[in-house]
This record gives sequence, C-alpha cells and structure tokens, in this order.
Amino acid sequence: MLRTACLKAFVLCMCLRATGIATGADRDALSGATSRGAVSLAVENFVFEHYIKDGRLHGTLSYPTKGWIAVGFKPVKRMKDANIIMGYADGDDFVVSDQFGTGTTSHKPDSAIGGTDDVLQGSCSEKNGVTSMWFVIPLDSGDEKDRKLTPGETVPVIFAAGKKDSFHFKHGKVASKKITLQDVNERTADE
Ligand code: HEM
Repeated sequence: MLRTACLKAFVLCMCLRATGIATGADRDALSGATSRGAVSLAVENFVFEHYIKDGRLHGTLSYPTKGWIAVGFKPVKRMKDANIIMGYADGDDFVVSDQFGTGTTSHKPDSAIGGTDDVLQGSCSEKNGVTSMWFVIPLDSGDEKDRKLTPGETVPVIFAAGKKDSFHFKHGKVASKKITLQDVNERTADE
C-alpha cells in the first residue's frame, strides 16, 4: 500500500505527464487510442486510461466522488478473483492499495491474505469533487493474489466508487466493461 503526502503526489503527477499517461488536463486529448498509445475508456462517469510498457500496466482512474475509487482486472464473477487497485485522497494524504476479490462481494488487501502489495508507483488526489488515481503495476507480479495480464488480451474490468475515505464502506456506484490491454510498443510498431 502506498501512503504519502500531497507534495509527493504532485511530483509523481509530473513524472506521469513526462511518461505520457493522461492527467486531467490531458484527458480530452486522450479519448480513444492516441499517438501516445494510451487508451481511454469512459463508462458511467468512470474514466479509465491505460497503456502497457516494459511489462508494466500504467493506469489512471477518475470518478466524481470525495471517497474511494477502484478498478479490478479479470473478475470471474462480480468482485471474485479480481486484481483490485483502490485509492482515496484524504486532505494532504492518500492511499493506493493492491487488493484481491476474495469472494463475489468481498475483497481484502493482498498483504492480508498471504500475498504482497505490488503497486510499484501510484498516487491519488481529489479536486472539485473528483477523485483521481494513477498507478503502475507489473503485468505478472508472481503473486497469486494478482491476475496475470497479457498485452493484447481482452479482459473484463470492474469499477467502483464509494462516498467515504475508507475501504470498509461499500460502493455507491459500480460499472464494468471489457477492455483490450494496449501495449504501447506494439502500437508504435504498427503505426
Ligand atoms: C469497499 C468494500 C466493498 C463492499 C462492502 C462491497 C460489497 C458488495 C456487495 C454486497 C455486492 C452485492 C450487490 C450489492 O449489494 O450491491 C457487491 C457487488 C459488486 N461489487 Fe462490491 N463491495 C466492495 C468493494 C468493491 C470494489 C473495490 C469493487 C471493484 C473494483 C467492487 C465491485 C463490485 C461489482 C462489480 C459488483 C457486482 C454488481 C452487480 O452485480 O450489479 N466492489 N459488492
């Protein structure tokens, strides 16, 4: 789990821009697959963008809430077996956590169920009632509490958002979609 303060979030955000992943200001320019390779998806007010580079998935998620937001990769049913990344911002602090769908309506931090927290980088912030998170995770962490992701693979993805800055409070909103994982190197090679 990543916990840190606002200044670090800002620095990470700047790094994110440098690597080409979308932040709020870039969002309009990134709808659909773009020349920078990130793919943008909007579903029921969730905006999710991702690209894959060098064996890592870089993602951003935003939703209009002052509470937590989450994305889960490859659930088999509802939340079950999903590799979930959850975050919230609370004043100057934020949390980004690697979690796992332990059942159809339950999830736990990987580190609490024999796995490891594999969020390599991340931050979460809240502005004007919108919470935004970005993160970098390995495609194959080797942790059995993550799901292996493969470039080019089409996978189910779930999104959820809660109204509180606590992962113990249930979502007010969920959504799901299938996405094709986009390798930025492949796209560049194709073009
Ligand atoms: C924060 C703690 C959470 C609790 C207590 C919780 C609880 C539940 C419960 C009780 C349901 C059954 C349907 C309902 O009553 O609405 C459900 C469904 C669901 N949850 Fe969660 N959940 C949590 C977090 C998450 C997260 C982090 C995600 C995704 C990243 C997620 C995704 C879903 C999805 C996709 C469904 C299925 C909705 C449907 O079938 O329409 N949940 N959850």
